[in-house]
Amino acid sequence: MKKIIITLDGPAGSGKSTTAREVAKKINYTYLDTGAMYRAITLAVLERQINPGRAADVIALLHHLQLSLNYENGVQKTFLNGRDVSEDIRTMAVTQNVSVISGVREVREFLVKQQREIGKQGGFVIDGRDAGTVIFPNAELKFFLTAKVEERAKRRQKEMAAKGVHVPLDEMIADIQSRDEFDSTRAESPLIKAADAIELDNSAMTIEEQVDFIVNVFRSRFAVSA
Ligand code: DC
Repeated sequence: MKKIIITLDGPAGSGKSTTAREVAKKINYTYLDTGAMYRAITLAVLERQINPGRAADVIALLHHLQLSLNYENGVQKTFLNGRDVSEDIRTMAVTQNVSVISGVREVREFLVKQQREIGKQGGFVIDGRDAGTVIFPNAELKFFLTAKVEERAKRRQKEMAAKGVHVPLDEMIADIQSRDEFDSTRAESPLIKAADAIELDNSAMTIEEQVDFIVNVFRSRFAVSA
């Protein structure tokens, strides 16, 4: 059975990463977290004290960056110049600066090229903003996940709290709203639903329900007993 590409796009906090990871596990595919790659570049920018708003400096840095991904029990580990940055890319500082970095055309070209190379054999569940529109516009199965902003903020707040970081809900809502606005209005690969993507508002769904929904669509269309 030929392995396909499944894309999951949607705004911050729509449950893409958890869902993509679980779906991949269930159907024995690999999960590709493209946001982690934008985060790794953002981390490099911040660590070198480059102003994220100075695109020319950010672009110049790309030549010095070597990104690689490893998988341990289906969990993606992100390496930057040989260093495991999987934890460091999840800080609030990275989260607050990643939208600007991901709006730079050359950064996107640099990463999209690598993402296409990684996924070219199929067998990947890919989450991002442009997975089904730009990275793999011919992906066989596409989803666009959404949820109400308050719900997404609560989820992010819970994630941060699990790491011991307490962010007030109104601050989280404001952060998500500004990222939504930035991601969907930027000139380069804005967050939009692919015409052939299945839209799923998961405000009132559990992760399990969402995972089951996607796995069921996949099985009914592409595999008898995957
Ligand atoms: O999914 P995430 O929160 O880890 O994504 C981090 C940022 O990277 C987010 O602000 C949007 C951007 N991003 C992107 O522009 N394109 C992708 N394919 C993935 C993420």
